[in-house]
Amino acid sequence: MFLLALAILLATILVVKGVRIFNYIDHMAGIMEMIPGPTPYPFVGNIFQFGLKPAEYPKKILQYCRKYDFHGYRSLVFLQYHIMLSDPAEIQNMLSSSSLLYKEHLYSFLRPWLGDGLLTSSGARWLKHQKIYAPAFERSAIEGYLRVVHRTGERFVEKLRQQSESSKPFDAQELVAKCTLDIVCENATGRASNSLNDEPSDLHSAIKDLCDVVQERTFSIVKRCDALFRLSPYYLKQHRALQMLRREIKQTIAQRKLELSANKVSQNKPFMDVLLSAKLDGSALKDRDIIEELSTFIFTGHDPVASAISFTIYTLSRHPEIQQQAFDEQQRIFGQDIFAEADIARLEQMHYLELVIRETMRLYPAVPLIARTNRKSIDINGTKVAKRTTVIMCLIAMGYNERYFDEPCVFRPERFEKANTNSGIEAFKSVPFSAGPRRCIAEKFAMYQLQALLSLLLRHFEILPAVDGLPPGINDHTRVDCVPQSEYDPVLNIRVTLKSENGIQIRLKQRVAAQ
Ligand code: HEM
Repeated sequence: MFLLALAILLATILVVKGVRIFNYIDHMAGIMEMIPGPTPYPFVGNIFQFGLKPAEYPKKILQYCRKYDFHGYRSLVFLQYHIMLSDPAEIQNMLSSSSLLYKEHLYSFLRPWLGDGLLTSSGARWLKHQKIYAPAFERSAIEGYLRVVHRTGERFVEKLRQQSESSKPFDAQELVAKCTLDIVCENATGRASNSLNDEPSDLHSAIKDLCDVVQERTFSIVKRCDALFRLSPYYLKQHRALQMLRREIKQTIAQRKLELSANKVSQNKPFMDVLLSAKLDGSALKDRDIIEELSTFIFTGHDPVASAISFTIYTLSRHPEIQQQAFDEQQRIFGQDIFAEADIARLEQMHYLELVIRETMRLYPAVPLIARTNRKSIDINGTKVAKRTTVIMCLIAMGYNERYFDEPCVFRPERFEKANTNSGIEAFKSVPFSAGPRRCIAEKFAMYQLQALLSLLLRHFEILPAVDGLPPGINDHTRVDCVPQSEYDPVLNIRVTLKSENGIQIRLKQRVAAQ
């Protein structure tokens, strides 16, 4: 009798669920017919059209952006519909809305690690946690972070000097990533780190493993599915890394609390101190909150920075006249002093370098895709889009749209001359830090950090292409017939942030002999 009742209950649940799924598909399919996009295959949707290898995916999504004239197009991955936007007006509507703040689906791989931290949370929790961050990016806090940037930058330059001695091409991307990880770990916890010298702490190893898992899951059709992911070795890797990370952060919290109670205040205030003194609903943060926010700070604070620096090194290496102008600006600010620290007053004078970075991020935005899930139906191009659709904003496609950038494959930093005064649609033509309520909370500090590290690099070295005589190397990947200009041009890949599969191959020439 009991078994019969159980069977009836299960059958009812299955029917109800089945009807809901059917209704959802039917409803979405009706709406989606009004938005253009590649024809989906039964069951799998469009996964084959987007390529099964991670390196094919960026090219395919970019090519579809052009095919649909940079207006929204839809795609289907198994049962999940996506809409891909790349038109500034459509993106402005999405990002400016205060009701479209939800991040689901694509962000779910980050959740085991970042939990409900600022990047991945939504709703009331996001609003409360956003306030916690305010003191972390006040001027005095940024000045402290920049001292760490400079100290680590000196070690970075030393490593580069060793590379430059062989005068052979090498991959700058890897070294840059180690440098930014050292910076963010010290700024987060107050403890110096040494990835640059290949002596990673347990915290570093855990972060590296967690980044690997997230990157692997982002574009693996199999590992995207939670049940299948649990069967893969990556699940164990994630489990071990999370245990190590939590243990390490808990130890650091305990040590820091002891130091603070003994009034041992350091000159630089790490992000950890902000979290330890923060109040949420009148109470101190729980360890879990601290772990999640510290992880968020570390994750968001190193990977995009590494990407932006690597690609700026690339564009400078291929545009010697522009590099010369950027170097001239450094000389005007620092004279012959190649070792001086770039404080905020000096960073504010690096106007041309900022334009170079912004032009680089037009073509190679560090965060190439961002997504939102609508909790109520919305209007895109006059079409009503049902709630719970994943809307992806393809920031990387925006820079290649001739409607907004003439000769998009020409590297011209002056385009951004008036960017700070832009408003309306102009302000949404290139949004590497996103825009609206959920824009990057650390944009100012991020830009200072990029300028400070690139300033050191420019003052010490002339950045040369991998071999002499290479062309500018900006390729329009939105075009099906795009052929890279040389084998040293970056092969783009989206591993949450933008990476080059074949590295950023350059050579360096010392400007002044080491003292
Ligand atoms: C070149 C460097 C950087 C770029 C291009 C960048 C870009 C972005 C973008 C596009 C978003 C929006 C993500 C989304 O909507 O899913 C974002 C969010 C965020 N960024 Fe950055 N970022 C950079 C550096 C940093 C740094 C250095 C930190 C902190 C130390 C940071 C902290 C954050 C946080 C906490 C969020 C989440 C904000 C929220 O959801 O309210 N970012 N960033």
